Amino acid sequence: MNEIKIFSPATVANVACGFDVLGFCLDNIGDEMVIRKTDKKGIHITKIEGFDLPFEAELNVAGVSALAMYEAAKPDCGFEIEIYKNIKPGSGIGSSAASAVGSVFGMNELLGKPYSKTELTQFAIKGEALASKCEHADNLAPAIFGGFTLVKSITPLEILEIPSPEDLYATIIHPQIEIKTSESRAILPKEVPLQDAITQWSNFGSLIHGLHTSDYNLIQKSLHDVIVEPYRSKLIPHYNEVKQASLQNGALGAGISGSGPSIFALSKGLENAEKVKGAMKKVYSETGITFEIHITKINTEGIKIL
Ligand code: HSE
Repeated sequence: MNEIKIFSPATVANVACGFDVLGFCLDNIGDEMVIRKTDKKGIHITKIEGFDLPFEAELNVAGVSALAMYEAAKPDCGFEIEIYKNIKPGSGIGSSAASAVGSVFGMNELLGKPYSKTELTQFAIKGEALASKCEHADNLAPAIFGGFTLVKSITPLEILEIPSPEDLYATIIHPQIEIKTSESRAILPKEVPLQDAITQWSNFGSLIHGLHTSDYNLIQKSLHDVIVEPYRSKLIPHYNEVKQASLQNGALGAGISGSGPSIFALSKGLENAEKVKGAMKKVYSETGITFEIHITKINTEGIKIL
């Protein structure tokens, strides 16, 4: 096999109380990429469609993660990468992560799968860091593993797979504005009050327990973020209205998707997710800001060959 086409999914990071460690994978929304083995050595990005991104491998998220793997594997060939980008950069649904994992996943398949999923995530972190100026893997891990993932540690990299309750649906509204992850990280406090930390780790622990036991009531009680949301929500127009409308229309919880501007809600059942979609749509239709809305199941498969 000399060429492979892949689907690299969008993801939601943080999931309210799990800043920088928790994430889940989305169905249907994602980028496509073609990875090709070549006689010419090195990593060459030959095509980019959808958004205006750099072709130089060292300046491109997919290129940087590919180079990290290429330097480790030292293969007797080179690779061409074609990127068909659907996820808007700066959307908050893991655009850079999809690019970063796509190249290394495709190369790994073409090399006969020498690397584990965790090792692929390790290479992809280098690409993600180019975009966000910080090494974190809460979008990368769910894109590679699928489902919910918990990044237990970055050094050494340790990823836990968390079960996804069968009837859980995500509704995601993406206002068409850009928020750079690096900028929305820069506004966060370096220290947090102890009482907030206690609330956050209580919610985080109970959310993980709720996911393990499919306890929707506990998931509902746990989807709160007292540390990051107060700062970042100010960057997202009509955030509080969207969140309140989602909760009033049956969402278990709602929060900022990654570093925003996308807002996610989790619901039990498709019918509730549809109601939440209608409520989000109503709020944003009156703002004049263009937006997209998606409903997806939790994608337990993750990145895949097409
Ligand atoms: N955990 C990251 C953040 C996800 O919120 O900054 C966005 O890349």
